[in-house]
Amino acid sequence: MNAIKRAWNWIDDRSGLSGLLGPVLTHPVPRGAGWAYVFGSATLAAFIVQVVTGIALATAYVSSAGEAYASLLFITNNPLGYLLRGMHFYGAGAMILMVGLHMIQVYLYGAFKYPREMNWLTGVVLLGVTVAMGFTGQLLRWDDIAVWSVFVAASQASRVPVVGEQVARFIIAGDSIGGATLSRFFAFHVFFIPALVFAGIGAHLWLVLHNGISEPPEAGRPVDPKTYRAWYHEYLKRDGVPFWPDAAWRDIVFGVGMIVAIMLLAWFWGPPELGAPPDPSNVEAYPRPDWYFLWFFAALALLPTEIEDYVILIAPVVIGILLIGLPFISNKGERSYRRRPWAVGIVIIVVIMVGTLWRAGANAPWSPAFSQQPLPASVVQASNEQVTRGAALFHSEGCQFCHAYAGQGGQRGPSLTNVGDRLSRDQIATSILNGRRNMPAYGNTLTPDQLEALVAFLQSRSQQNADTGADPASASIP
Ligand code: HEC
Repeated sequence: MNAIKRAWNWIDDRSGLSGLLGPVLTHPVPRGAGWAYVFGSATLAAFIVQVVTGIALATAYVSSAGEAYASLLFITNNPLGYLLRGMHFYGAGAMILMVGLHMIQVYLYGAFKYPREMNWLTGVVLLGVTVAMGFTGQLLRWDDIAVWSVFVAASQASRVPVVGEQVARFIIAGDSIGGATLSRFFAFHVFFIPALVFAGIGAHLWLVLHNGISEPPEAGRPVDPKTYRAWYHEYLKRDGVPFWPDAAWRDIVFGVGMIVAIMLLAWFWGPPELGAPPDPSNVEAYPRPDWYFLWFFAALALLPTEIEDYVILIAPVVIGILLIGLPFISNKGERSYRRRPWAVGIVIIVVIMVGTLWRAGANAPWSPAFSQQPLPASVVQASNEQVTRGAALFHSEGCQFCHAYAGQGGQRGPSLTNVGDRLSRDQIATSILNGRRNMPAYGNTLTPDQLEALVAFLQSRSQQNADTGADPASASIP
């Protein structure tokens, strides 16, 4: 015991550690800061879990398109790797959840008001980089779902006016998703964005120390920037307790509890299952993002297509402006939510909205419907063998996952029952060969013969053909 103490004294004397850490640990905080204040430190704890498990995973993960999938299989089939991958996955979810709760608490308690405006602003930046971590991490799974999500994201980015094409090319590092895309996401996920997170956390924590932890709000005790600092100083003298141990124990209990929960989830539920290896022509990919993005994708998919583009572009900008503008719009006055009914209303509306969208996202028509029966002969007005073959291909090639025909099939794309009346034979063929927005290209997967059969089938109910009588497929239409 003595030896440890002597060693510590030696180190402390030479380094001045206790002089540095002591004031940080024991700085006075408001006595009333209770359990509502734990979400910030819990976010930090979740981030530390991500750093530790992330580094461990990086020791076995190969960020090359040819080997990533196999290396993930290797990791997942190893008990420790299984646990680490699971913890990294649930840790990411926990971090996003804690960021959300932390933001709600800070907003409801009016803690973003003077003098803590910059605490809020650095927090908004941290929210952005946290989301970017989640997004870039998803692709590293490098299965069909991950690749498809990036494909969707890039095709959304490409709709930005003027710079869209460049942004999309930047995201996928070229014209098509491949090894370069994976390298790019890996570099962003493990080097660039974490550097921003570290810098952001450093600034955020410094501001927390500099401005002090906000006192629990009381109705009828508004913030006045002219007098607040002097008042807060007095308040802490009167009613402050040292952070360690009087307040920190709650952070530790909650943080440890959260980490145990992450481990239990990882152990019993395991990491997200790896989908099939990526194959750009595989339309059975389930283009569903991880849960924390699901609500946004659901919102996009449920919107009418005409305004989808604008919402994709404008919604994030509006959300960003609102978040950044908040401490400038109202940085003084009442902090208590009892005197801020609007704030309570906004939180309730946002939570209900995100929750509803989230549930809708879990079973909305925007993702392909994968269990489809082949079309029955009664709806395929088969006038010849080619149309019959086309109808079979419509099912076997997965068109039916996204397109309904005679009321049967998915709703991701438009119904194709009468497509022959809307599009010419060439237009239909081009759509299939080159793909469309949110539809894969089939140029490499169909033989010319199969393409002909599909087109013939899709035209079989066309009125035009019946009029001209040019296509034998139309013979069955009176
Ligand atoms: C992953 C979902 C998906 C799959 C699978 C899919 N499509 Fe599509 N398809 C779409 C979407 C979404 C659109 C609408 C694109 C747009 O709005 O530009 C579309 C559009 C079309 C159009 C143009 C329709 C029109 O009215 O403009 C045709 C024709 C078409 N698809 C045929 C096919 C065929 C044939 C197959 C199978 C070989 C197929 N699609 C597979 C999603 C899909």
